[in-house]
Amino acid sequence: MTWLVTGGAGFIGAHVVHALHEAGEQIVVLDDFSTGVPARLSDLDDVPVIRGAVQSTSLVAKLLREYEISGVVHVAAKKQPGESVENPLLYYRENLGGLESLLRAMTEAGTDALVFSSSASTYGNQDSDVLTEDAVCRPESPYGETKLAGEWLIADVARATGLRYVNLRYFNAAGAGRPELADTGAFNLIPMVFERLTAGKPPLIFGDDYPTPDGTTIRDYIHVADIASAHVAAARHLAKGEEVRHVLNVGTGRGSSTREIVDTILEVSGYSDLTPEVLGRRAGDPAVSIASADRIRQLFGWSAAHDMRATVADAWEGWLYHHPEARRA
Ligand SMILES: NC(=O)c1ccc[n+]([C@@H]2O[C@H](COP(=O)([O-])OP(=O)(O)OC[C@H]3O[C@@H](n4cnc5c(N)ncnc54)[C@H](O)[C@@H]3O)[C@@H](O)[C@H]2O)c1
Repeated sequence: MTWLVTGGAGFIGAHVVHALHEAGEQIVVLDDFSTGVPARLSDLDDVPVIRGAVQSTSLVAKLLREYEISGVVHVAAKKQPGESVENPLLYYRENLGGLESLLRAMTEAGTDALVFSSSASTYGNQDSDVLTEDAVCRPESPYGETKLAGEWLIADVARATGLRYVNLRYFNAAGAGRPELADTGAFNLIPMVFERLTAGKPPLIFGDDYPTPDGTTIRDYIHVADIASAHVAAARHLAKGEEVRHVLNVGTGRGSSTREIVDTILEVSGYSDLTPEVLGRRAGDPAVSIASADRIRQLFGWSAAHDMRATVADAWEGWLYHHPEARRA
């Protein structure tokens, strides 16, 4: 099959492109480079990389026809919950408007297979620690709302047109398949700790009075190479041509506490002389958020291959690639 990967020059998108390429798939990338880095794809000579926005329906429809695309992996989006609270219009335009444009182009061109980058932020605060896909979603930010509304839009279009889809709800993406593919921003715990260490400051822990064994919040950190392999599994499933309408968590099914993550970072990075500083809780942080990874295992035979320590170690190698000054002798 030939796949159009939107956002293929981004952190997760580039890992997906490399994984699909290694699996022998034909790929075309569409990216506006708003946060994407073209160099992440520079070693893939046979992958056309088109600069453009998913909001350009005519461009997307043209690409779908010209390259005889049979399926789309829609990764392109804005991803910062805090920014989405400040600027909801941007998030609805980019995430929901972008998806609406893409679906219109796919409908026009008759492209009937979609893998969509959804997110654990669709769940919001839940009573249960381990989240199954059947939970009633209560997103806490406009970002999470655009992802949930995106899932609804896809389901509605599927009912109307026969679109076949896999919505993948990633948990906390981290690590790097290769250092040069690492995330360059610092939007979640692991790179935020790296940023503090690089500045010679102690890591911060927000709250140690949660009802968890060590009092800190617990999350499911999933290696980005594992997220990428879940896309290969989804692509193979869709390639069978059957009716597919899945919403699936992509997580390890295991939780790590913030304290465990921070201690592992200090050990792996060689900054173990620094002692974490504990501050008050941040608003809206649930105590525990772990993926139930049962459904994706049952359907695709997929499970995460990396444990937390390997994920942290690969994330650190990626950080050093972009911040060589952080390396200690
Ligand atoms: N990183 C995470 O922890 C995480 C967790 C859950 C879900 N997600 C989702 O995964 C996806 C990728 O996240 P990421 O971490 O790789 O982010 P990223 O910012 O590195 O990648 C986004 C890519 O999409 C491109 N892009 C953005 N808007 C575009 C548009 N309108 N048209 C064309 N290209 C556009 C950017 O240039 C970039 O290459 C997003 O949909 C995000 O919501 C990420």
